Amino acid sequence: MKFFVDTADVAEISELAATGLVDGVTTNPSLVAKSGRDFFEVLREICEIVAGPVSAEVAATDFDTMLAEGRALSRLANHIAVKVPLTPDGLKACRALTGEGIMVNVTLCFSAAQAILAAKAGATFVSPFVGRLDDVGADGMALIADIVEVFASYPDFNTQILVASVRHPMHVVDAAKMGADVATVPPAVLRAMFNHPLTDKGLASFLADWKKTGQSILDR
Ligand code: E4P
Repeated sequence: MKFFVDTADVAEISELAATGLVDGVTTNPSLVAKSGRDFFEVLREICEIVAGPVSAEVAATDFDTMLAEGRALSRLANHIAVKVPLTPDGLKACRALTGEGIMVNVTLCFSAAQAILAAKAGATFVSPFVGRLDDVGADGMALIADIVEVFASYPDFNTQILVASVRHPMHVVDAAKMGADVATVPPAVLRAMFNHPLTDKGLASFLADWKKTGQSILDR
């Protein structure tokens, strides 16, 4: 399973990428607004830090402008994945951009029917939003299970399932159990995945016992 980090905060990306656990990055207009920075400048910096796919979302909603924006974004780096919304024009733009060899991430997917359309449009990634479904009382992970099941029946679907709107480590674990290709994880969730109180407790007691031995590994 690949991990993308879901943020436009370059300092966070840099810190997390240093762990060697980050395979890509996703951004969206809200994350860019939160950064308060120039979109292209942020994308350039992210693309220098992370070698895997970096999702950058178009702002237009009509086909012609989405196509022009997608091309402009993709010129930044070969590993930009242009993000388009799951609308008829978005899927038309997806088909056109993938035809030009550009990676496309179809975003704002909330149903298996929509995911099938994204796969038919040749998307590199489809992003089902699990957290936002949970927020409205639906079952986000049930959607992932449905999409995994459907895609498994069609080996000619090359679209990767990118679990988005992840809110906690169990979303990641459940997505991994279902065989989803990618989870895009907010920095706080990725950090939370490291944590377990028994790890902290165990480490503290090992360190205390080691101190009692009076030895040093590096003195040898
Ligand atoms: C990623 O591609 C999505 O834009 C993001 O995961 C949405 O997350 P949110 O629902 O927490 O805003």
